[in-house]
Amino acid sequence: MKISVSFLSSYDKAKDLRKLNVTDVDYIHVDYMDGRFVPYKSLSFRQLKTIYKYTSKRLDVHLMTRNPEKLIRQFATLNTEFITLHVEIKKDISKLIDLIHSYGIKAGLSLKPDTPIALLEPYLEKIDLILVMSVEPGRGGQEFLENTPSRVLAIKNLLKTYEKSDILLSIDGGINNITKEGVQDLVDIMVSGSYITTGEDFQERIHNLRTH
Ligand code: DX5
Ligand code: ZN
Repeated sequence: MKISVSFLSSYDKAKDLRKLNVTDVDYIHVDYMDGRFVPYKSLSFRQLKTIYKYTSKRLDVHLMTRNPEKLIRQFATLNTEFITLHVEIKKDISKLIDLIHSYGIKAGLSLKPDTPIALLEPYLEKIDLILVMSVEPGRGGQEFLENTPSRVLAIKNLLKTYEKSDILLSIDGGINNITKEGVQDLVDIMVSGSYITTGEDFQERIHNLRTH
């Protein structure tokens, strides 16, 4: 089980990133929000890119924006393992996936809680990861949606049908030591924000997510 920590709702981002850097966390999850695709705005790329000063972990970038092209080019200049786009955007997603791959970065697609999973089908040949939203994207600290485990199972079945079980599954939103129980055996990566960053001992909380 890999853990990716979101610092979206961290009060002192530099301090939390430094603390996370000495844990065994696998990735730093970077939430970018444009204030249009989701109602809230995150820091700009210019502000976000300064995180390289505080972390040597690889980045797991989650682009909640209608217009990801420029951001893909920008995040490709950082230490990025994954760039994930939303399948709901009205853009040439296939071309954007190619753009991500052209930098040697793994490409993910994310879906909001009410988005039909069939929207993923045209891209299953190309993507490396699916990021299932277990809250409505936009802010941290929300409650985990109870129908998420059955949604993850439906996606797993879809992947089996297409013989694409090698695509990584990740889950994002409301993950803590209790809600993880319904999904930890189903996914490869869990993204967690406030559960980790509101704790005193980050390593202990990361450990709690990894264990059964
Ligand atoms: C929500 C973001 C998440 C969020 C996770 O829009 O995509 O990454 O920050 O934070 P928690 O774990 O607090 O729900
Ligand atoms: Zn996210």
